Amino acid sequence: MVMSEQRIKILIVDDVAETRENLRKLLSFGHGFIVAGEAENGKEAIALAKRIRPDVVLMDINMPVMGGIEATEAISVELPTTTVIIISVQGESEYLREAMAAGARDYLIKPFSADDLINTIRRAYEMDAKRRARFAPVPIAQRKTGKIVAVFSTKGGVGKTTIATNLAAELASHARKSVVLVDLDLQFGDVAIMLDSVPIRTIADIAKEDEIDSELVEACLLTHKSGVRVLASPLRPEQAEIITAKHVEAILTLLAETYDFIIVDMPQGLNDITLAALDAADKILLVTTLELPAIKNARLCLEIMEALGYDQDKVKLVLNRSSRDIGLSIEEMEKTLRRSVDVHIPSDGRVVVPSVNKGVPFVASVPSARISQTIRDLARVVAAGDADDAAAAALAGGAAGVAGGLAGGVAAGAAEGRDGSTRRRMGISARIFSIFTGG
Ligand SMILES: Nc1ncnc2c1ncn2[C@@H]1O[C@H](COP(=O)(O)OP(=O)(O)OP(=O)(O)O)[C@@H](O)[C@H]1O
Ligand SMILES: [Mg+2]
Repeated sequence: MVMSEQRIKILIVDDVAETRENLRKLLSFGHGFIVAGEAENGKEAIALAKRIRPDVVLMDINMPVMGGIEATEAISVELPTTTVIIISVQGESEYLREAMAAGARDYLIKPFSADDLINTIRRAYEMDAKRRARFAPVPIAQRKTGKIVAVFSTKGGVGKTTIATNLAAELASHARKSVVLVDLDLQFGDVAIMLDSVPIRTIADIAKEDEIDSELVEACLLTHKSGVRVLASPLRPEQAEIITAKHVEAILTLLAETYDFIIVDMPQGLNDITLAALDAADKILLVTTLELPAIKNARLCLEIMEALGYDQDKVKLVLNRSSRDIGLSIEEMEKTLRRSVDVHIPSDGRVVVPSVNKGVPFVASVPSARISQTIRDLARVVAAGDADDAAAAALAGGAAGVAGGLAGGVAAGAAEGRDGSTRRRMGISARIFSIFTGG
C-alpha cells in the first residue's frame, strides 16, 4: 500500500457533476491517488488549487464562468509545480493545441479507460517531477566551495599583485585547477596590465546592477592565456565608489561556487571592502618585506586579525624579497612578529621586472627560476588541507622550504571564514580602535 504522503494529490475540474463522479470512480481503480478537491469551473479551480496545491489537475475545456484553457494558463504560471492534464471530447483538437500552449502537460480524449487515465496521470506527474528535480536550486550543503585566498598587506608596494598573479597562474597551469583572480585594488588595480589583458567589463559592471547572480559575474570575467579567469578592477578610479562590501561578499561567494581557487589581489589597508574580503577568505597571505615600516604594520595587522577571531592557520606570513644581506635579520623579524615565515620569496628583479613589463607571469616564462619555485611552495601552502586533492598532489614536487604541518586546521578555518563573516564584522571599528589604543 502506498503511504498517504506519497499519493498523487488530484483536483478534478468539470462543470458536470456526473463526470466528476466518474473520474473519482476511475481513480479508485489505481492505488496512490487522492482526490483532494473538485471544482465546477476555471475560476473555482484556480482558487482551490492555490489552497490545496494539488500535484495534478484534471481539467475540462468548456465550462461556464471560466474555461479550462484560461484556468490552465493561470495555474501553470502561479503553481509551476502543479501538472495540468486536459480532458476533452473528440473534435476539440484546436482547443487541445491551445491548452498545451497554455501549459497543460498531457490530454485525454473521452471516452477513456481507467488504465488510460491512471497511466496518463502517472506519466505526466513523473515527467514533471524529474524536471523539477533537475532545475531545483542546489541545496547550500551541496554547493561547491572553492578556496578564497586574499593576498594582503598593510603596506603598499610589497609585491601583492606580483604574488597574486603568479600564484593564480601557477595554480591554473600546474595544478590544473579552475582559478579566478579578483582585482580588489579598486582605484588603481594592476592585475589586467600585469597579465597583458584589456578588460571590457569590470567589477564596476557588476556593482551597478540591482541583482547579482553567477551569470552576471561570469559575463564580467576575462580569460587569460594561462587559463586564469580575471575580474578586473574598474577602468577609472572614480568608478570604485559604487562598489560596496556587500558586493564584494556576494561576488566572492558566487565565485566560490564555481571555481576551485579565488585569488584576491587586495589594496593595502583595512576598510569595509578589504574586511569583507578578509572575512570571506579561507586563507590570508600576509605579505611583508624586510623593512621596518612593513614589519611594524605586519605586526599590527596580525594583532588585529587575532582580535577579529581569525584562526591562526588562516593567516600565512609571506616574506617577499627575502634576503639575508640587507641589514635586517629574518630571525629578528620573526621574533618581532611572534611567528615564523611560512614562505620566503627571493628578490629577483631580473626575472620579475621583464615579466611585469611583458605582462607574462614569471612562473610561465621562467619556471626554473628560484622565485618561480617559491611560488610553487606558496601554491602548496594554499592547496594544503585538500589532503587527497589533486592540487596538493600536483604541487607536491615543488621546492622545499615551506614550513611543515600546514594542513592542520585549514578546513576548520575555511568553515569559520564564511560562516562567521557577518558576526565578526559587527563592531569591527570598535575592536580595531581598542587595539590601537591598547584598550
Ligand atoms: N620578489 C621580487 N623581486 C623583485 N622585484 C619585485 C619582487 N616583488 C615585487 N617586485 C617589484 O616590486 C614592485 C611592486 O610590486 P607589486 O605591484 O606586486 O606590489 P603591490 O603590493 O601589489 O603594490 P600596491 O600596494 O601598489 O598594490 C613591482 O615593480 C615589482 O616588479
Ligand atoms: Mg598591487
